[in-house]
Amino acid sequence: MRMAGQVTPLAQSYIETADVVIGAVPNLFTRNWLQQIAREYICVLGYYSDCDVDGKNRRDTYRRMADTILEQVRAGKTVCAAFYGHPGIFACISHMAIADARAEGFSAEMLPGISAEDCLVADLGLDPGRTGTQSMETTQFMIFERRIDPTALLILWQPFLAGELTLKRFDTTAARLQVLVDKLARDYPLEHPVILYEAATHPLEKTRMDTILLKDLPSASLQGTTTLVIPAAYPLKLDQAIVDQLNALPEAPAAAARKPALF
Ligand SMILES: C[S@@+](CC[C@H](N)C(=O)[O-])C[C@H]1O[C@@H](n2cnc3c(N)ncnc32)[C@H](O)[C@@H]1O
Repeated sequence: MRMAGQVTPLAQSYIETADVVIGAVPNLFTRNWLQQIAREYICVLGYYSDCDVDGKNRRDTYRRMADTILEQVRAGKTVCAAFYGHPGIFACISHMAIADARAEGFSAEMLPGISAEDCLVADLGLDPGRTGTQSMETTQFMIFERRIDPTALLILWQPFLAGELTLKRFDTTAARLQVLVDKLARDYPLEHPVILYEAATHPLEKTRMDTILLKDLPSASLQGTTTLVIPAAYPLKLDQAIVDQLNALPEAPAAAARKPALF
């Protein structure tokens, strides 16, 4: 997420030693840095303009990016595909390329990275384990029947694409955000505070952590880097029947009870 400092030493060593590094990294500073440390760098960011072509959409762009990675692999090179954040979180290209490479008999692995979710846990001081966390893509939440638990944290990714069904555009509208608000209002009060979060991506940038009311979301400014964080609206409610059932169970055998706890 943040240039250089949040790349793991292992990932950096792969970037430095691969024959070729392929990236669709939007941040200019990060891209320049990658170009400097890579032996060869192929930027596939321009593939997003494929969406301007009639009959093509984001899925075609992602497929072409994965194909470019595979072309280099088939050419016998050691290839490193670099993505910002965690390469496997809301990033289908990495999963496609790894599956394709393995299917063709090449060895391929994914290294974990620091995702936007990791950054927001640190910046907002939220422990996802305290209430449990639901984390999903905004449009997926909107168009599918999802059962949201308002006693748990909810993280919605890509709200700047809320309700964008053509898969060709990179924006949303106030009307679509209103649909999102109306759906969220099934489980949350309209006066519920929600957070617009944007992690700083370089040391000179400031992290955005704007708290607004849910009902004001349609007029909010959303960037490609905005993540919508919705804290729990209600306290956890004890399931007394389960607690009673557990208490009624016989004691665990002494030997098993002495085993060290895992947490
Ligand atoms: C395609 S996903 C990529 C996620 C990335 N792989 C990760 O691990 O964080 C893009 C979404 O990630 C989130 N995101 C990306 N950059 C962010 C940032 N600087 N701060 C907060 N969220 C960010 C936003 O929700 C954005 O719409």
